[in-house]
Amino acid sequence: MDHVKKGLEGVEVLTTRISYIDGDKGYLEYRGHDIGELADMDLETVSYLLLFGNLPSPEEFAAWSSRLRAERAIDDRVLDIINTCNLNIEAMDALRTAISFESHCDVDLKDSSREANIRKAIRLIAKFPTVIATFWRINNGMDVVEPDPGLSHGANFLYMLRGERPSDLEARIIETDFIISAEHELNASTFSARVTASTLSDLHSSVISGISTLIGPLHGGARMEVMQYLESIPSSEAAEEYIKDQIANKERIMGFGHRVYKTYDPRARIYKELARLIATEHPEERWFRIAETIESTVHREFVEKKGKPIYPNVDYWSAVVYEYLGLSPRLATSLFAIARVSGWIAHIFEQYADNRLIRPRATSIRQS
Ligand code: CMC
Repeated sequence: MDHVKKGLEGVEVLTTRISYIDGDKGYLEYRGHDIGELADMDLETVSYLLLFGNLPSPEEFAAWSSRLRAERAIDDRVLDIINTCNLNIEAMDALRTAISFESHCDVDLKDSSREANIRKAIRLIAKFPTVIATFWRINNGMDVVEPDPGLSHGANFLYMLRGERPSDLEARIIETDFIISAEHELNASTFSARVTASTLSDLHSSVISGISTLIGPLHGGARMEVMQYLESIPSSEAAEEYIKDQIANKERIMGFGHRVYKTYDPRARIYKELARLIATEHPEERWFRIAETIESTVHREFVEKKGKPIYPNVDYWSAVVYEYLGLSPRLATSLFAIARVSGWIAHIFEQYADNRLIRPRATSIRQS
């Protein structure tokens, strides 16, 4: 059974033009643009790039942006569903349920033409932040805040979440967060969205597959776990002890390691610089120091004990950034989903455009 590639490691099952990764060099681009170049743009521009393959002209941008901003509000029936959600659930559970119900309210429900799918894509990208902010405020006993079409995608999310406008620095940081987490080739949630699309299932169902897969702690759920352990560590000294104990107990250190990157994840590098930037403006700079100690301890211990290092991944430094933004760990994975929905949809469209049912084989062990 040596031919079985457990976890499909290293198996190439399709061709994509949406992003390009060099795992050895720690390089990532979307549609031919280096991630570092895109990080300073805005999510609306980058979602256009991902879906249509090129940066928008000023006229295309104006039309795209105004369509996205006009679709931010959610249907009253979706609001009712969020209101009836069990208070013990997490934001990702609410997102999965609300987006499923949102498909019932979509005027293009029965239409899966390319034009209808673009209209649905705009609604999905626009409504993800509203669903999450609405759930969060209801879950925490606060009044719901309506979206503000005058604000960027990221600033509007923070505004709906907190009920007050973010500072310019916070708005810039959340916009960059959404951009650098928007797309990453055939990661687990994107693969699952494409598998669903390959059966010619509809756009909402394919996106819901992506949401469901992102929840797991080996994927988007790691962000929440990193925030939880960061919050439990009071000092750099305690951080070293924590990591040594984790390694001694053969526990996985959330936020470290990657299937594709065997060097520093380029997204983690950008997040680290964002964390450094916001730390200088924040009265509580210990998060950054503790996070750096954890990073160097993991590096040193892995080199000593396993002969090679493991590096922080996208979930590690993003979690530090979220601490500085005052976001709850319970929101961490859902922020990833707000970002990643553009990537999922770009891949679903690519799948529809050149489809073949994705149906691998298992080595079946006969039991009779
Ligand atoms: N902590 C401790 N050991 C690790 C870690 C880690 N975070 N990551 C990998 N290893 C070890 C693992 O124990 C194994 O060791 P050995 O060969 O001695 O048994 C070896 O490295 C290979 O591990 P693997 O699980 O077979 O490798 P993988 O390619 O499947 O790992 C991973 C990818 C992301 C699942 C893994 O690195 C991991 O579990 N990381 C922690 C969870 C995490 O941070 N997830 C976010 C991933 S990046 C963003 C995203 O896609 O959502």
